[in-house]
Formats: sequence, C-alpha cells, structure tokens
Amino acid sequence: MRVLVTAGPTREPLDPVRYLTNRSSGKMGYAMARAFAEAGHPVLLISGPATLDIPEGVDFLPVETAADMHAAVARHIGRMDIAVFAAAVADYTPRQVSPEKIKKSGDVLTLELVRTTDILGEARTPLGFQGTLVGFAAETGNLETNARDKLVRKQCDLVIANDVSQPGFGFDSDHNQVLLVYPDHTESPPADTKAHLSIHLAEAILEIQRQKT
Ligand code: PMT
Repeated sequence: MRVLVTAGPTREPLDPVRYLTNRSSGKMGYAMARAFAEAGHPVLLISGPATLDIPEGVDFLPVETAADMHAAVARHIGRMDIAVFAAAVADYTPRQVSPEKIKKSGDVLTLELVRTTDILGEARTPLGFQGTLVGFAAETGNLETNARDKLVRKQCDLVIANDVSQPGFGFDSDHNQVLLVYPDHTESPPADTKAHLSIHLAEAILEIQRQKT
C-alpha cells in the first residue's frame, strides 16, 4: 500500500523575520510514517518545519506554508492508497507578506488574515482521492461530536481525535490518547506512547484499505 502522511506545523510568513504557526512537533505524524514503513509499505512524508529525524526508509518532502503543503499533497495524492493527515495546518495566513521587517508603530497592530485551503477537505473533491482517507482532529472539547462532524464533512474513512487540552498528551508530548471515530462506531484505545499507538493505528488503517479492495 502506498501511504502519504502529512505532519508538523505550517509557517505563514508575516515579514522576513516573523511568521504565524501552529503548535505541533511532528511527533505524531512522524510516528505514523515510521509505523507504515516498518510494516513494509512505501511512505511519502510531507512535513512542515520540524526538528525530528526522518524515519528510515521514508520518502521525505519538506514544506513551509499551508499553500506549499497543499501543492505537495495535490501533486502526490493521486498515486496513493492511503492518506493520513496528521499535520497542524494553519487555517489562516496573512493577506500580505511584508517584504521589509514590520516596524513598531502605535500600541496596536492589526493583521488581516485570509483562509488557507482545507487540504483534507479537498482530498475527495476536487483532488479525486479514492483510497483510505484519515484525518486527525485536534479538539479542546466535544471530542467525539466534533470529530464525527469532520468525518462526514470531509468524507473520511476514519478520524483520529485527540483532546489537546489534556496535560501530557497531544502537542509536543511523546504520548497521546485518541478516539478512533469510524462512520458506524467509535473506539477508545488506551493512552500510549505515540510510537506504540502508531503501530495500532497503522494496522487499523491498513485493515480499512484491505476491506475496500
Ligand atoms: O505534532 P505533535 O506535537 O506530535 O502533535 C500531534 C497533533 C496534536 C498535531 C496531531 O495529533 C493532530 O491532531 N493533528 C491535526 C491537527 C489539526 O490541525 O487538527 P484540525 O482539527 O484543525 O484539522 C482537522 C484535519 O484537517 C487534520 O487532519 C488536519 O491535518 C487537516 N487540515 C486542517 C486545515 C487545513 N488547512 N488543511 C488540512 O488538511
């Protein structure tokens, strides 16, 4: 099975020295990429800026902005069997990037932001991806309801929901606690290291794809 994984944050530049970003170390996405590769599957990891080692045997495509990540996914998703979106993509980007460093002036600085493309939301249409589509949902409340809403709206086969307000899990941590939200049921595996959990998640995702084919 050919697997695409997105991971890490994106960086949306404001000027040559500043950017807006999301909290994400890339650990969850890199662990997913490693789990699929160790199970013998070819993996393309499309990653925003992260400081992690690239998992062995994984093709690696570094990107910076949400627009870069969208372009990379659009270029490669057509030949994939499985796509897993673990990246924390910026939902908004500055309308304009200042070519010069923005100087201090006044007490308030107002930024104008515009929506980025919802990459996961585009995977089915217009990108035409027909394989197994897996999104993550980073939530701070109503975990299952919000994840199920994403599952339906973005036509996913599975949404892996994590409560990022829980201390010790989610962003940056080596551990995570997730809900697996399927179209017809929800599973709640025990909290675990991202490395261990990813082996279980990769197996669950491969099983969805096997049942499709
Ligand atoms: O990187 P770590 O430090 O290990 O942390 C892991 C994590 C918490 C970042 C990860 O487990 C996680 O939850 N990733 C998704 C974060 C997120 O942006 O969630 P969301 O609910 O805002 O987005 C929903 C889904 O749409 C995600 O699959 C996201 O990749 C995707 N998305 C979002 C916006 C956008 N413009 N394009 C997208 O593809």
